[in-house]
Amino acid sequence: MAVDLLLGLQWGDEGKGKIVDVLTKDYNIIARFQGGPNAGHTLEFDGMKHVLHTIPSGIFHDNAINIVGNGVVIDPVIFKKELDNLKKFDLDIQSKLLISRKAHLILPTHRLLDAASEASKGKAKIGSTLKGIGPTYMDKTGRNGIRVGDLELPDWKERYRNLADKHEGMIKSFNMDIQYDLKELEEEFFEAVAVLRELKFIDSENYINTAQREGKTILAEGAQGSLLDIDFGTYPFVTSSNTTAAGACTGLGVSPSSIDKVYGIFKAYTTRVGSGPFPTELFDEDGETLARVGNEFGATTGRPRRCGWLDLVALKYAVEINGVTELFMMKADVLSGMKTIKVCTAYEYQGERIEHLPYSIEEEYIKPIYQEFEGWEEDITKVRSADDLPQALLEYISFIEKELNVPVKVVSVGPDRTQTIHR
Ligand code: GDP
Ligand code: IMO
Ligand code: MG
Repeated sequence: MAVDLLLGLQWGDEGKGKIVDVLTKDYNIIARFQGGPNAGHTLEFDGMKHVLHTIPSGIFHDNAINIVGNGVVIDPVIFKKELDNLKKFDLDIQSKLLISRKAHLILPTHRLLDAASEASKGKAKIGSTLKGIGPTYMDKTGRNGIRVGDLELPDWKERYRNLADKHEGMIKSFNMDIQYDLKELEEEFFEAVAVLRELKFIDSENYINTAQREGKTILAEGAQGSLLDIDFGTYPFVTSSNTTAAGACTGLGVSPSSIDKVYGIFKAYTTRVGSGPFPTELFDEDGETLARVGNEFGATTGRPRRCGWLDLVALKYAVEINGVTELFMMKADVLSGMKTIKVCTAYEYQGERIEHLPYSIEEEYIKPIYQEFEGWEEDITKVRSADDLPQALLEYISFIEKELNVPVKVVSVGPDRTQTIHR
């Protein structure tokens, strides 16, 4: 059987967690392939809301095994908190959650390095989630990292000490006023590592390829979004992993030829947390309305999300890079009540109209060109069939499909599992 991918097409927080939870009933395995606890994936069902950071969003279903893949970076401290928060659900975590031996560990000093690096950048800061993501991936590619599988080796604490000592020197060299009590942080870290070690570690590439041969269905869950991809995102205002389709191959050990469907998730408008260019960002009443109605606050950091109109130029780019085969439109309900809805269909770039994403998309280089659509008044949060959606929304969807040449197969009309319309 093939592997299907689910990816965010914008700057993250598109609603990936909700949709993975909805789709899990059709899969035997859900596997996260990149990112770490910078992610915050929100699930809502049975009147409760739950945010996952490292654990895949299929964890609440009995039919699926959940795998944290080799491309993921794990902070044992946050991971332990996630497990604690799941206790009340009485899930059989030991048999449902498997961890790749090749996943890298986020150490307390990685978090401190993230803070020092951000502080040193001043106004040019990335707006990182301060979870130690950048420094951990730097150690991975720099060939210094500590992996989950290392925890089974006798000398891992020695390797930990060497790396943490090196980090301390690096933190000092930033010359920033970073206050910390490493002893305390390490105590918490080692306690959390002991909890992590109670879980089953696997050679996940072997597990997943064997499962594939046996006919199991696999869904790869992306984190962040395509515009935060280390290669194709709005560099340097990006995260440190490949959030795009290719990341699933390196982050799970599945071959490109084994990938079948690529589900691209996008909000009916656009949001971004952290710094960096955002051509369609709104600073007016419409922006405030999107933020308020969409409740746009980061699931990991609680920071307000910047809001703007849908950017079809950027979306087309993401569709192309990922080879998206099905689009899922999220948060369509948030647009209800807006008189006019705008969509960016091209940019004005050096006095010319362009329809592709250029190297620089900062506001001094480009201006979005909009097409306007009539809004709709109806509350659509209780609609469960595409036929019952307002005509104006159906026209908006048709336009997007035509521009992107990919069908919109799901329209999400609220945060709850049940507020999902399949077309
Ligand atoms: P993720 O990181 O892609 O999983 O997305 P987040 O969980 O960070 O952010 C998406 C937010 O929108 C969460 O609070 C979801 O509960 C919520 N959400 C998801 N789908 C919808 C929808 O269709 N309508 C509304 N109003 N909220 C949604
Ligand atoms: P999910 O999976 C939205 C953003 C941060 C910052 C930049 C780099 O929930 O969609 P990092 O901590 O990775 O070094 O931060 O990336 N960012 C996200 N924005 N959703 C996320 O994840 C994000 N993960 C990182 O705000 O701008
Ligand atoms: Mg999120």
